[in-house]
Amino acid sequence: MFTEVDLSQQVAVVTGAGAGFGLAFCRTLAEHGATVIIAEINEAAGKRAEQMLTNEGLKAKFMLCDASNPDHMQNVARQTADAFGRLDIWVNNAGLSQNAPSELVTPAEWQRLIGVMLSGTFYGSQAAGQIMLKQGKGNIINIASINGVVAQAGRASYSAAKAGIIRLTEVLASEWGPHNIRANAIAPAVIMTDLVRGNLANGSANMDVYTNRSPMRRLGEIPELITALLFLVSTDSAYITGQTLRVDGAWASDHYL
Ligand SMILES: NC(=O)c1ccc[n+]([C@@H]2O[C@H](COP(=O)([O-])OP(=O)(O)OC[C@H]3O[C@@H](n4cnc5c(N)ncnc54)[C@H](O)[C@@H]3O)[C@@H](O)[C@H]2O)c1
Repeated sequence: MFTEVDLSQQVAVVTGAGAGFGLAFCRTLAEHGATVIIAEINEAAGKRAEQMLTNEGLKAKFMLCDASNPDHMQNVARQTADAFGRLDIWVNNAGLSQNAPSELVTPAEWQRLIGVMLSGTFYGSQAAGQIMLKQGKGNIINIASINGVVAQAGRASYSAAKAGIIRLTEVLASEWGPHNIRANAIAPAVIMTDLVRGNLANGSANMDVYTNRSPMRRLGEIPELITALLFLVSTDSAYITGQTLRVDGAWASDHYL
């Protein structure tokens, strides 16, 4: 029996929340009562998201930041704690994709993807963790990918970052478990967002390949991802930490011959 998820006393930060998953996460957390911080690098997208959610009567605030910058992550965490007196949920979601053969990936491209997704997840978790440790309570959710579970040619930096996020999540859960801070990851397969639309548009992905590759013969839907997030922030998952929850329709289970 699931408990009603009531986040009305909680404050949540979601990185990369101007679009896609991040915006959907913010909306859901706010619909369950949370005050949400839209931590986003794209100012126009961040402001638009804030406007959209507040127009819906939800409690949302945009903070401009680059997740790959540790000072920005510190500022977002501190400003949130100063303004609202607490920080309960931190979702490291900001990400970007790149498809290129490894021999052609430039150091700058490598460092950008690792910087935003792997280092950004560490910086965000660290900034949040420092506050949550003082509070004696907290919940960190890291958005990984099936690319962190199974390899894909042409996605060296993306796959390495996502695999790193999965192991980092286990370390954080181990370190901060005694302090009542949980850390879990979600590893989605392909779910339609701007990021996926971009890959389809530039030819680095193909819808027929995606649907044939998926054992369920379809992409995932955002509401199917949202339920995973809600479960992980709820008290129903109180003893679940250090886990990576695959929301992938068995994509990573299938060797695909
Ligand atoms: N869409 C999918 O199918 C899929 C599957 C698996 C994992 N993911 C992961 O989910 C996360 C969200 O993906 P999405 O599909 O919603 O992408 P998206 O491109 O639709 O949205 C990503 C958001 O992150 C923001 N962002 C990018 N770099 C940032 C930075 N340095 N600091 C702050 N914000 C930044 C972008 O401006 C954008 O608003 C990513 O980590 C992605 O790798 C997506």
